[in-house]
Amino acid sequence: MDHRMRVSALILLLISNTYTFSPEIDGPVVSQEAIEGRNTSLHCDTSLETSTDELMLLVWYKNDVPIYSFDYRGSSEWSNDLFNSTGRLKADLDRQPTVLTVSALREDDQALYHCRVDFLQAPTRNLGVNLTIVVLPSKPFFFDELDNKVEDKIGPYHEGDTLVLKCLVIGGSPPPRISWYSGETLIDASDEDSDIPLMRENELYLPLTRDNAAGLSCRATNTKLAPPVVATLQVKLYLPAYNVSIHWVSGTLGDALQAGRPAIVQCTAHGSNPPADLAWWMDHKHLTQHSNQTLINSTSTAISFLQLSPGVLDDGATLACVATNVAMAPSRGAKADLVKLNVTYSPIVEVSIAGDENGNRVVELDPLHLQCEVKANPPVERFLWYFDDVEIQPGDIWGTNTSSPTLLVEEVSKHHAGRYACEAVNSVGRTRAQHVTIIVNYPPECDNGVVVVKETLHCSVKALPTPDTYFWHIYPTGFDIQQLTTGSAILPLSQVTAPLSGTVKATCEASNGVASQEVPCERALSLEHLRPQQPQQCDLAYEYEEFQMRCVPVENATHYEVSVWRMSNSNTSLVLEHRAAMGFGSGQAMAQGEAPWLLRGALGKLKAGDEAGASACNRYGCSRALLLRPTENLLTASAPPWWEFLVEKDVAISVGAVVLVAAFLISTFLVVRLARRTRSKPPAPVIQVLQLDDIARDYLDTIGENKVRASCSLRSCSSVYSDGSEASAPTIDRRRKPLWITQYEAPPPDVTLTLHRESAV
Ligand SMILES: *[C@@H]1O[C@H](CO)[C@@H](O)[C@H](O)[C@H]1NC(C)=O
Ligand SMILES: *[C@@H]1O[C@H](CO)[C@@H](O)[C@H](O)[C@H]1NC(C)=O
Ligand SMILES: *[C@@H]1O[C@H](CO)[C@@H](O)[C@H](O)[C@H]1NC(C)=O
Ligand SMILES: *[C@@H]1O[C@H](CO)[C@@H](O)[C@H](O)[C@H]1NC(C)=O
Ligand SMILES: *[C@@H]1O[C@H](CO)[C@@H](O)[C@H](O)[C@H]1NC(C)=O
Ligand SMILES: *[C@@H]1O[C@H](CO)[C@@H](O)[C@H](O)[C@H]1NC(C)=O
Ligand SMILES: *[C@@H]1O[C@H](CO)[C@@H](O)[C@H](O)[C@H]1NC(C)=O
Ligand SMILES: *[C@@H]1O[C@H](CO)[C@@H](O)[C@H](O)[C@H]1NC(C)=O
Ligand SMILES: *[C@@H]1O[C@H](CO)[C@@H](O)[C@H](O)[C@H]1NC(C)=O
Repeated sequence: MDHRMRVSALILLLISNTYTFSPEIDGPVVSQEAIEGRNTSLHCDTSLETSTDELMLLVWYKNDVPIYSFDYRGSSEWSNDLFNSTGRLKADLDRQPTVLTVSALREDDQALYHCRVDFLQAPTRNLGVNLTIVVLPSKPFFFDELDNKVEDKIGPYHEGDTLVLKCLVIGGSPPPRISWYSGETLIDASDEDSDIPLMRENELYLPLTRDNAAGLSCRATNTKLAPPVVATLQVKLYLPAYNVSIHWVSGTLGDALQAGRPAIVQCTAHGSNPPADLAWWMDHKHLTQHSNQTLINSTSTAISFLQLSPGVLDDGATLACVATNVAMAPSRGAKADLVKLNVTYSPIVEVSIAGDENGNRVVELDPLHLQCEVKANPPVERFLWYFDDVEIQPGDIWGTNTSSPTLLVEEVSKHHAGRYACEAVNSVGRTRAQHVTIIVNYPPECDNGVVVVKETLHCSVKALPTPDTYFWHIYPTGFDIQQLTTGSAILPLSQVTAPLSGTVKATCEASNGVASQEVPCERALSLEHLRPQQPQQCDLAYEYEEFQMRCVPVENATHYEVSVWRMSNSNTSLVLEHRAAMGFGSGQAMAQGEAPWLLRGALGKLKAGDEAGASACNRYGCSRALLLRPTENLLTASAPPWWEFLVEKDVAISVGAVVLVAAFLISTFLVVRLARRTRSKPPAPVIQVLQLDDIARDYLDTIGENKVRASCSLRSCSSVYSDGSEASAPTIDRRRKPLWITQYEAPPPDVTLTLHRESAV
């Protein structure tokens, strides 16, 4: 009871003791802000000025109306029931300065508060607090140009478009400031009151860029006690990639590629919205294969890998990565990065012949100029030359400069003919070119010169190209020169009309269009070996009152000769008595035919010791003579009858008359009969056969034993061939000999043969 009494007494005292607080006069005033709904602390300094003094009373007033008091003497506390109706008042007097906390602040808590401290000795102390209650504004919101509400997102826009947008805020006390921020950058602070009451606004006119469109926000603030009220807006902006870059991932050496070696290249495009489509181009050719693309949404990055197998032709090509924003027009949405490919490769080499209107042919003594045509990346470091697959060393017949791209020979010789190749070396590798074959043409020069082969002359020369014309000069001894031209190296002797039986000088001079032969080839020829063989099958016969040489023809003979040799009177040598043609008519040889044949040459008279020769001849001369000596038999047969001397001239005159008279006297009949018998039955010829082969011997034996009637006499048969023309005469064929011998139809001459054999002399 007592306590209650005292309190009410004090209140009465206080209320009765009303007075008005005058700021700065009664005491200092501090300004203080507090936010509606939150709490604030009102401070009051109750410290004593002297230690002997004592605290009496502490009173808080709101606009001079007491709301709280503490009586230090009675330690009694009081609060205004109206003010503390919700129990929001709390005092802490132990701290210094003392604190009176007001919670759940309301807008009407804004007032001038002051505290009054009464001391025992010191004068009363008054301290003022000018409290302002801040009402926070609403969260900002957005309206577009057409006053449509915009939630969170707006767009899409293109870069450069102007964003027109209002930021609105309701309420707030004191009135809030409204500002636009891009990120943390203030971009527009020009706020104003709205047409609508209690609302403020800030209308933004913003040309959009990649930078300012991101993190756009509107902030409203009216106190430092609380952070601004913020509303953010996402502006959807179509953006091309701002950074497209190509870089090599693998397969390169430095930045250089190597032909044939696969490489992987990466393209990265940042900042495209929506994410970019990456396309690869190589020199305006779209590469659609061997690439893939991934997106990293968080950083709006597109990455594409391309697998590349560069070839030699790709060197210097431009590789492009084009980042396209599909939402934008290609003209503004595409961005590219380009790299020039550096494709290295082993050199590509080819040998060319400078001034090659003649192809790969060079004339002796002309210059030879070979060029190593090369294409290489990196450039060639070294050249090498090869001749017939052997590396050319400096100092040989190619001179000293054998390691440059040109190989120059001032004067070509035959030794320079062959296969040439060059090789080029760079850091990637070495390549040898396909070889070219160089042919060195040179004028003809004698090799073996003029050579006789069978019945032809060969002009053996060395020349390139092969000569196409040969000029021949034939110098027969004692005759005029004959000039001939042939298209080949062979001159058939049949074309030579000059006699060839003696020693013949022949020259040839070839021409191949390069230059004419400097010195003609010359040779003195002996054609003896082309003469026919010596006749081997001959006999001597005494017929028609003279000796006859009869021979079997020899191959390739065109005519035959008989000769008579007689022992010299003074020495033991045989001396040529006379020569005559063998055969018939014109003296040509009789050639073989279907009919049996023999050659016949008249010798005249032969004496003991004489020798008869037969030789076969053709245009190259005659063979050595086969010599036969008549046998005793033949000589006896040829001896004149015992009355021969009567016929001799001087005796005949004297004896003749006697014989004539006697004969006349005996009987004319008898003489006539005798004469007829002699003519119709001549003495049998005596034949000497020599060196017959078995076949011929059989033949002669046969005709000796069988007296066959002739259907064709020797004379008449031979007359067929008497003109001796070679063209009409069949050639000799040994193989056919047995044929005519075994199957002869025409018989031998109708003579009875008596065989006498003798050897050759
Ligand atoms: C005042 O408010 C703050 C936070 O709003 C709170 O932490 C504090 O305890 C309050 N003080 C009182 C005395 O109610
Ligand atoms: C205010 O009222 C509450 C509850 O009614 C009480 O606990 C508190 O002590 C009062 N404040 C003061 C300063 O008296
Ligand atoms: C208290 O503050 C208000 C504004 O918050 C001001 O208008 C008034 O003059 C102030 N009073 C004193 C006494 O300072
Ligand atoms: C583009 O990207 C490359 C590599 O990623 C980087 O070095 C360069 O600075 C970037 N350029 C710009 C403008 O961002
Ligand atoms: C290509 O790369 C090679 C090797 O790295 C180098 O030597 C050469 O100079 C490069 N060429 C170009 C055109 O860059
Ligand atoms: C990236 O964004 C696209 C559409 O913008 C979506 O389809 C895709 O799933 C996203 N990828 C990831 C990994 O988030
Ligand atoms: C794309 O290609 C690269 C290189 O070819 C490869 O490493 C990568 O795994 C590929 N990525 C996808 C998603 O296929
Ligand atoms: C005859 O001439 C031909 C052609 O020239 C030849 O082949 C043959 O050997 C010659 N016969 C004889 C025996 O010389
Ligand atoms: C032998 O005599 C002949 C003349 O009868 C003569 O021509 C020849 O030279 C002589 N031979 C010798 C070797 O004396």
